[in-house]
Amino acid sequence: MEFKIAWCITGAGHFLQETFDVFLKLVKSNKVEVTTFLSCAGEEVARVYGVLDKLDKISSGRYYQEIILERDQGKGFPMAGRLVRGQYLALVISPATANTVAKMACGIADTLVTSAFAQAQKGDVPAYIMPTDYKAGIVMTKLPAIIDNGICVGCDNCLPLEKCPNNAIRIVGKPTIDLMQCRGCKVCVGLCPYDAIIFGKEIKNRVRKLDEENVRKISLLEGVIILKHPSEIYDAVSSLDVT
Ligand SMILES: Cc1cc2nc3c(=O)[nH]c(=O)nc-3n(C[C@H](O)[C@H](O)[C@H](O)COP(=O)(O)O)c2cc1C
Repeated sequence: MEFKIAWCITGAGHFLQETFDVFLKLVKSNKVEVTTFLSCAGEEVARVYGVLDKLDKISSGRYYQEIILERDQGKGFPMAGRLVRGQYLALVISPATANTVAKMACGIADTLVTSAFAQAQKGDVPAYIMPTDYKAGIVMTKLPAIIDNGICVGCDNCLPLEKCPNNAIRIVGKPTIDLMQCRGCKVCVGLCPYDAIIFGKEIKNRVRKLDEENVRKISLLEGVIILKHPSEIYDAVSSLDVT
């Protein structure tokens, strides 16, 4: 028996691909129908990590399998109203940015995702939240495509620039990637003879105490379940009581 899940993507690169992989597995299991909600930043970030162009594998576009973009919604986020009307068995927010978690901790509902969360709470729909900034300290996170200026020699004919299907590479002194155009397709990575384009470079990121505290605050709200890693989503959703 299929049941419906609302999946919210916020503007976080951390664990985004991993979350996508879990939803793909869930949809392929034919157990769930997924409606995907993207915040404005979520749409941008999913694009540069190459996830936006893969979402149609999860969202057929049919009723309750749509991709809902914040930028298409009015200020009242009418589609978030589905949560209070009991259309979904659960809401999953993964990855959840520090920004979205902070807003939810304060009861603010002024974006598509925070509004969906508020409506879920009002409709007694459980919310599974996977915050990127979970515990204060250093975490490793992956960048989208970047050109390493130390490696790039600035060829006269830059092949990645010529062949980028999205015209996302510009010369600003040296070639640089315009993240507002990049779709994370990685075509450029294999074209640079000097391997100067790196996708998924790991960097250190400090999680603030403030963000950890906000996670603690939302964990105390009724119906909120905090997840530490996207791999926990599969079991959480699979064990939902459909009766
Ligand atoms: C490439 C990229 C990756 C980002 N990754 C994260 C992240 O992992 N965690 C986070 O809290 N913010 C991250 N941000 C910053 C958020 O996108 C930004 O705070 C935004 O305002 C969040 O809006 P939202 O919470 O409505 O989606 C990232 C931004 C960019 C451009």
